[in-house]
Amino acid sequence: MILIKNIAQVITPADSNKKAGVSMSELKIYNNVDILIDNKKIVKIERDIKAPQAKVIDATGMLVTPGYIDSHTHLVFGGYREDEYKMRLEGRSYVEIMEAGGGISASVNKTREASFDEMYETAMKRLDTMASLGVTTVEVKSGYGLDFDTEIRQLEVIKKINEDHPVDVVATFLGPHSIPAEYKGRDREYIDFVVEHVLPYVKERELAEFVDIFTEKGVFNIEDSKVYLEAAKKMGFQLKMHADELFQTDASVLAGNMGCQSADHLLKISDSGIDSLKDAGTIATLLPLTAFSIKEEYAPARTLIDRGVAVALATDYNPGSCHSMSIPLMIALATNYMSMSIEEVINSLTINAAHAVGRAQTIGSIEVGKRADILIHNVENKDFLPYLFGVNTVNKVIKNGEIIIDKDGEYVYRK
Ligand code: NIG
Ligand code: FE
Repeated sequence: MILIKNIAQVITPADSNKKAGVSMSELKIYNNVDILIDNKKIVKIERDIKAPQAKVIDATGMLVTPGYIDSHTHLVFGGYREDEYKMRLEGRSYVEIMEAGGGISASVNKTREASFDEMYETAMKRLDTMASLGVTTVEVKSGYGLDFDTEIRQLEVIKKINEDHPVDVVATFLGPHSIPAEYKGRDREYIDFVVEHVLPYVKERELAEFVDIFTEKGVFNIEDSKVYLEAAKKMGFQLKMHADELFQTDASVLAGNMGCQSADHLLKISDSGIDSLKDAGTIATLLPLTAFSIKEEYAPARTLIDRGVAVALATDYNPGSCHSMSIPLMIALATNYMSMSIEEVINSLTINAAHAVGRAQTIGSIEVGKRADILIHNVENKDFLPYLFGVNTVNKVIKNGEIIIDKDGEYVYRK
């Protein structure tokens, strides 16, 4: 039993519903309250709670939020591509580097060579870093194998890190992340191979809840994507898409039509794409660290929200287009360059992200009965989150009712 005492401010989505449009700017705020945690769950949010048996955490002058949910990452892979980032700093574009043999295929070669143990060790360490930044649940995709054995090995690593690390991991199969060299010019044949030989195995072994596809000019077209998503849906998977990232393909229109849980990236989304996501209730998952990393215009967060779409934010941590899992930098970019308010950012990183990974009934808000995934920050109120830009404000991480990160004694930024 844990009692968090004297919290200066608790901010949380008011309930477990998806927040779209104007409701994204609403948060429930409690000032000067305590939170009681028992048996992994939140049991009370009140003033002056008495619980003599509980371990007490003094949160005087501190802000409390739900744990962050990073709903789009590629955390498990072999090797790095720091050379490509250097080339981008020197002015080459992501597409140029990809066309010159870099990009996803470079990571596919390195991942095919990586053993289960190598990928497991590195993924566990990366999860430690994410936890220290306040991430309590993370979605992780396969997609750097593009052959049966390596895709399955990635998914087995994802399964094992979920079992062994306190952070919860949601698995997504991303077999169609790129067209493997063996299938050059035969994209539909690769899709057929995935649908006939890989997806049934993934389903039978319960290695993924979601499937995803990179729908993009020169990668998988709308027809390929439709064939794949329809087959996966029939098998009982939930759907995600990498949509309208580098070029406008109207993948977002398909995402809405197919009832995808989320459509991700959306740097180049069209008007009809926006309408489709709104009508279907598909979450627009925006990845500002990727836009920063590939030096593209940020996704139109303001337009999406103003037109009634539900937005989530995630890091897209991966070895190529975005080698950063920095939640503080993401908050800075979203508030400063995407004109999102801190209230919208918090909803995006908590309840809407929980919806994007199908977990909204258990996580994503601080409510009685919900899982105790809670962050205590060494700042006094929500407005310090953008104000102390780029700095990790997390002082303690409580995951499933246990303290997993503790920076006791760190300076608390308060008036
Ligand atoms: O989400 N856009 C496609 N896939 C990844 C990039 C992968 C890579 O560069 O290795 C993404 O950005
Ligand atoms: Fe991605």
